[in-house]
Amino acid sequence: MSKKWPYPRLIAHRGGGRFAPENTLAAMRCGLDYGFDMVEFDAKLSKDNVLILLHDDDVKRTSNGQGLAAEMTYAELLELDMGQWHSAYYAGEPLPKLESIVRFAIENNIICNVEIKPCPGREKITGKLVAEAVARWFKGAEIPPLLSSFSAEALEAAYKAAPELPRAFLCDEYDATAKKVAKKLACVAVNPDQKTLTEKVIKAIHKDGYRICAWTVNDYRRAKELFAWGCDAIFTDELERLPASMA
Ligand code: G3P
Ligand code: MG
Repeated sequence: MSKKWPYPRLIAHRGGGRFAPENTLAAMRCGLDYGFDMVEFDAKLSKDNVLILLHDDDVKRTSNGQGLAAEMTYAELLELDMGQWHSAYYAGEPLPKLESIVRFAIENNIICNVEIKPCPGREKITGKLVAEAVARWFKGAEIPPLLSSFSAEALEAAYKAAPELPRAFLCDEYDATAKKVAKKLACVAVNPDQKTLTEKVIKAIHKDGYRICAWTVNDYRRAKELFAWGCDAIFTDELERLPASMA
């Protein structure tokens, strides 16, 4: 198992969990306000290859617009309101560039997990551009950002572009394929769906040499159980309920 593991046990999912509109600057502020040392967010490319934060391929669920992000320029994406869907309080929140989020994280000493979430068909270019930019922005950082992806292709491109950055392979469960990808891409961690984790599975993953960040744990008892079994970190939306006793 990788000896050097500088990451905390609790990671704020999509920045602010359920308390702020996901993948926005407001969400990162929220994670920080709740005392989180580490945030996770989803990065992809706009049509004109600007690195942005967005979870879905489509902007519909998390904005007042519609359409595929891959078919919208950054200028078009900037017209969207990314906060109103969450609550009136966050109305007018813009879609952020990855660069602005990284700047905020560096200024506030927040550790980042950059999930590479490519639009379909743009896996390689997204992995490459995310890794190149992140490596440049975080050069010399005490704790490097963790890169992760469900896309082996994107993660491989990231590996080639910035081999020095630690990687985690996101998977539904730690099966033979996940094991193979994690080995091939020299990952430090695998990030499985928490539902698939048992004490036995956790031990097996550790034995294979990987840390474990489980997504997404919003139940206190389940979080306690996973940590008791040796799980290294969890992503959570429950910024208020979990941290005090567990960080
Ligand atoms: O990286 C952990 C978690 O964010 C993976 O699932 O769909 O929320 O990006 P998703
Ligand atoms: Mg994610």
